[in-house]
Amino acid sequence: MATPASLAVEKIASMPEYVKEFKKIYGNDGVTFDNIADAIATFERTLLTPSKFDKFLEGDTRALNKKEQEGLKTFIDKGCTACHTGVNLGGSMQAFQVAAKYKFANIGDFKGDANGLVKTPTLRNIAETAPYFHNGAIWSLKDAIKEMGSVQLGIEISDKEAASIERFLHTLTGKKPSITYPQFPKATEKTPKPEL
Ligand code: HEC
Repeated sequence: MATPASLAVEKIASMPEYVKEFKKIYGNDGVTFDNIADAIATFERTLLTPSKFDKFLEGDTRALNKKEQEGLKTFIDKGCTACHTGVNLGGSMQAFQVAAKYKFANIGDFKGDANGLVKTPTLRNIAETAPYFHNGAIWSLKDAIKEMGSVQLGIEISDKEAASIERFLHTLTGKKPSITYPQFPKATEKTPKPEL
């Protein structure tokens, strides 16, 4: 969040309890920026939301009903899996507006990375995370599906096909992990203050 790496290290290293915990886990390396990133990543790896799609992937073909399986087939046949691929149905950097301009491209000033690439979002729990796209300009999942067809694939997705894909996407809604909030170590006089 725009915190320079050195400031992040200075903050964490200013609190003895963190220093102790880092030493316990990372040995003499202690508080380094890489270890801070590793600690956060280790926590994030616990944020799994298993759904019936996982049961299906594990081989339980009855985990998805006939309509949901048809939706998965439509999702694959239309070419969505060119980008929304792998166990997270997303994650890779891709070109955006491949076939046509995004309907709300004029809102915000988003250009992607230096090469104009955009991270393909995961579609897990997508039915619960409206609004959609980088600027949150599309509120209905069906509209998002149809917009993807025109913007990324250059095809028109019919209402019926969009409804079918949507049915599949609902199978990606999973069980949320319960999180126990930690007691954070106390700041000390050495802890850098926010700059006003
Ligand atoms: C060429 C790669 C590509 C293809 C093909 C593609 N997508 Fe996407 N998808 C993306 C990218 C990149 C974004 C992020 C766009 C943005 O944030 O503006 C995205 C965003 C989305 C979103 C909104 C996610 C969110 O959290 O806001 C949905 C839903 C979606 N895609 C579904 C689909 C469906 C359904 C298909 C097939 C009809 C499809 N996509 C085909 C790359 C692709």
